[in-house]
Amino acid sequence: MRWQGLARVAVVAAVALVVAGCAPRRAAQPTPAASPQAGGLPDLGGRTLRVATDATYPPFEMLDKDKNVIGFDVDLIQEICRRVNCKPEIRTVAWEGILPGVQRGDYDVAISGITITEEREKQVDFTDPYITVGQVVLVRQEEARIHGAADLADKVVAVQLGTTNDELATKLQQEGKIREVKRYRTFDLAVAALLNRDVDAVIIDSVAGLGFMTQHPGKLKTVGDKLTQEQLGIVVREGNAELREAFNAVLRALKEDGTLDRLYRKWFEEWRPTQ
Ligand code: ARG
Repeated sequence: MRWQGLARVAVVAAVALVVAGCAPRRAAQPTPAASPQAGGLPDLGGRTLRVATDATYPPFEMLDKDKNVIGFDVDLIQEICRRVNCKPEIRTVAWEGILPGVQRGDYDVAISGITITEEREKQVDFTDPYITVGQVVLVRQEEARIHGAADLADKVVAVQLGTTNDELATKLQQEGKIREVKRYRTFDLAVAALLNRDVDAVIIDSVAGLGFMTQHPGKLKTVGDKLTQEQLGIVVREGNAELREAFNAVLRALKEDGTLDRLYRKWFEEWRPTQ
């Protein structure tokens, strides 16, 4: 328990630092009035946006006990739409279908803890980053053999298929630093495999690791240093500058007026699952 408490404090502190680090170095603006176009933000005319998310990724997106999609990303897109006058319609989509779906035009937006990468930039457009994360090694609470990524050479590691975590694990395996990589359709399943002792560790974004620790109190811990530094962004269809610029303008406002900080506190410090 003590360890988990410490780990939580460490992750929260890291998130706070990142937030402080990416906030523009300007004096805080006065809080904008409630009107959606306050502060000269664009007006999207009340249109509905089809928003794709893989809701198996606490605390960014997950189902509550009544099967509503909740989480940091959900609050964020709702707040964005409140300010630029759009209506987000959340669609839960399997991870591997998200970017192709945006490319095809099945969805207008994807928000799903998605790392901005060069490869993905070729298929879709990203907003400015809204958080910086790093990948970590997640293990069972009682794990005594694994202290970090250097201890995985004879271990089985789980990831979600097609994520940057999959990319890193695959690379580490090619370098002989991981024995076997098991790829699951969701991180829920990867973490279930860890808890069932089918695998020895999960490689996952720091904040989602924290999310699963919160969902399974006393059962999981993270070990070692962060393995990467990545930025998460919101995805729009390639060339949709109107949406991307509107979202970027709101993201700047949310950083400046403290709303993003409030969302970080809500989901990374205060949130506890109800089921
Ligand atoms: N940040 C990682 C990536 O973009 C993992 C994201 C997984 N998100 C999810 N909703 N399952 O590849």
